[in-house]
Amino acid sequence: MMTNNELIRTFCELYGEGGEIRLFHSPGRVNLIGEHTDYNGGYVFPAALSMGTTIALRKRTDKIVRMKATDLPDMVTVDLEDLSGYKDLFWGNYQVGIMDELQKDGHILVGCDMLYDDTIPHGGGLSSSAAIEVATALAFATLSNEEKGINEPVNMVDMALIGQRAENHYIGVNCGIMDQFASAMGKQNHAIFLQCSTLDYDLIPLQMNGYSLLVANTNKKRGLADSKYNERRAECEEAVKELQSVFPDMQNLTDISVEDFEANKQVIKSEVVCRRAKHVVYENARVLQSIAALKAGDMETFGALMNASHDSLRDDYEVTGIELDTLVAETRKIDGVIGSRMTGAGFGGCTVTLAKTEACQSIIDAVGKAYKEKIGYEASFYLSSIEDGGHEIK
Ligand code: GLA
Repeated sequence: MMTNNELIRTFCELYGEGGEIRLFHSPGRVNLIGEHTDYNGGYVFPAALSMGTTIALRKRTDKIVRMKATDLPDMVTVDLEDLSGYKDLFWGNYQVGIMDELQKDGHILVGCDMLYDDTIPHGGGLSSSAAIEVATALAFATLSNEEKGINEPVNMVDMALIGQRAENHYIGVNCGIMDQFASAMGKQNHAIFLQCSTLDYDLIPLQMNGYSLLVANTNKKRGLADSKYNERRAECEEAVKELQSVFPDMQNLTDISVEDFEANKQVIKSEVVCRRAKHVVYENARVLQSIAALKAGDMETFGALMNASHDSLRDDYEVTGIELDTLVAETRKIDGVIGSRMTGAGFGGCTVTLAKTEACQSIIDAVGKAYKEKIGYEASFYLSSIEDGGHEIK
C-alpha cells in the first residue's frame, strides 16, 4: 500500500509533472450477515473496510484515457470515442464497463491519465472489483459534473448502481447491489442495514466495546465461482415461480416470512431448490434479528446468528467448501470467539469473525497453523477498521 504522497510521486514518474493531480478512493467491504439475500430483494448488513482502491488522476485535453495499476506492468490506453473492443483486457475492463454505463447515463467522459493503487486482495471476496468500479465511477462522474457546470456532489447511490450495471452488462456477473452499495455508501465505524429491493438504508453504529472483527482469507484460487453464482440465482428464481402458485403477488423470495415458507414449501418440487429457498428466507430473518441484537448490545446473540448463517450457507445453500469450512470450524474452537462465518459470494474468499479483541492474536496463530496443516497452504488475516465509502481525498 502506498501513502497518498507516494502515489502522487509514482504518478508523476509515470506521466510527468505538472497540472492538478486529484485522488479518489473507494473501499472494499465485509458483509457481517445477510448472504445471498441481495439479489433476492432482501436485507444485507455490510461495512466498508480500510482496504480499497485509490486513484490518482489528471485531466487531459483529448478523449484518451491512460490507466495503470501500481502492481501491474502494463499501461492500458482507451479511446473514449469508441469503447468497443476492450472486453478482453486482462486489467482495465471493469473501468471500461463503468465508462460505458456512465456514457449511457448521460455523463460526459473526460480524458485523463490514471494510476490505480489497489490494496484489496483480488478475488478474495472483499469486493476488490466493486472498489475499482465505484472509485472509477466517482472519478469520471466528478469530472463530468464539472464539465457540465453542475455544482452538486456526485450521487453515490447512483455510482453504486452504475457499478452493478457495469458488472452485470459488461463483465457478465449477475451480482446484486450489496458490494457496490457498501463501497459507495459506507461510513466509518458503522455497518449499513440495507433493504435491497428499495435501497432504503440505515447506518448502524458498531459499538465494539472490547470486541473486534477479524477477516480471514482462504487464499483459495477462484474457479467456477461466477457460474455457480449465476446457478444459485436461477435456483432462487425457480423457487419464486413455484411459490407464486400460493403467493401470486410474490416477486422475491424474501417477500414471504419464515412461517409462510414452512407452511407452503411443499410446492417446491426439487429438494435442492427448496433448501436454497430455505436459506434465503431464514437468512433474511437473521439480518433483522442481528440488528435487534446489536442495538441491544447483545454480541452473543449476534455471534450465534453469524454461526447459523454460515451453517445454512454450508448445508442448504452449498456455497462454502472445505477451505471456508475449515477456517470457520478452527476459528470457533478458540476461546473468545463469539461467531464466525463466510462472507461474500463463497466458493473460497474470506470469513469474518466476531471475537473478544484479546483473542485475535491466538486466532491468527492457532487457526493459521491448523489451516496450513489441513489445507496445505496459508490463510491470511486482516484486522481492518470500518471506514467511509467512496470520496475524493482533498
Ligand atoms: C457477491 C455479490 C453480491 C452478493 C454476495 C452474496 O459478493 O457481488 O451482490 O450477492 O456475493 O451475498
